[in-house]
Amino acid sequence: MSRRGTKLGIPQFLLVLLLGAATGCLGLRVSRVVVPPREVEGGAVQLECEYDLEGDELYSIKWYKDDREFFRFVPADSPPMQVFQLPGVTVDISRSSDRRVVLHRITLRSSGKYKCEVSAEAPAFDTDSGAGRLLVVHAPRSGPSISGVQHRYAIGGTVRVNCTAAPSVPAAHLTWLINGLEAEASFLIPYTTTTTTEGLHIATLGLHFTTAPSHFRYGVLRLRCVAMVAASYRRHKTVYARHGLPQPSSSCGLGRWCEGE
Ligand SMILES: *[C@@H]1O[C@H](CO)[C@@H](O)[C@H](O)[C@H]1NC(C)=O
Repeated sequence: MSRRGTKLGIPQFLLVLLLGAATGCLGLRVSRVVVPPREVEGGAVQLECEYDLEGDELYSIKWYKDDREFFRFVPADSPPMQVFQLPGVTVDISRSSDRRVVLHRITLRSSGKYKCEVSAEAPAFDTDSGAGRLLVVHAPRSGPSISGVQHRYAIGGTVRVNCTAAPSVPAAHLTWLINGLEAEASFLIPYTTTTTTEGLHIATLGLHFTTAPSHFRYGVLRLRCVAMVAASYRRHKTVYARHGLPQPSSSCGLGRWCEGE
């Protein structure tokens, strides 16, 4: 929007004035707010706020997390920087300034919307803001686990297994592979993700199909579950079953058929 050096008729001028009042872009404006979309738990993040005063004088920069203020920079104050305690928000004041705020030791509670609000001194009192969302990633500590596998399946037998991801944030995206090929959608049984008291998500995906001769390569069926978290953590678990008559489940108690699990 061009605000200067253009001749405007009265109605246009009013429109620009109204737009300016609504968006705060008549004088000072926030040109860019940088909030990393994803960061791993325990790390540090740098939040950036770029602004143009456009002739105004700076009164304050305020940072909010989910609409609660945690940082204030007022050049007229001494000291100019002030920090307010919020859960999950630990400001590294030595690395912060009017243009950026560094948070260290981020936790799952650091996830949320971060807003930078810049205000001008009197007489303008212009205010503008910009925001971005941070999602703190909790990497899975181990691979997924597979349950319900039998050692042997007959042709025409039923495979009914589950893959459960290790707790993570965001929830793992699970995929089943049968002999290296992605299982068809009709074989999948999606289950609702559960959440632990610490806020970690546990995803489960079932696999259910009837075996055909093509499922056995040299008499072996290979099932693999892949867990993907935030497109950066990939873990998998593979199990093998043989072609043959399934053993009665009571045999497991004898410790003879079920060893090696
Ligand atoms: C798979 O998980 C679901 C949900 O937890 C459960 O109801 C079902 O019995 C499980 N099936 C197997 C084969 O483990």
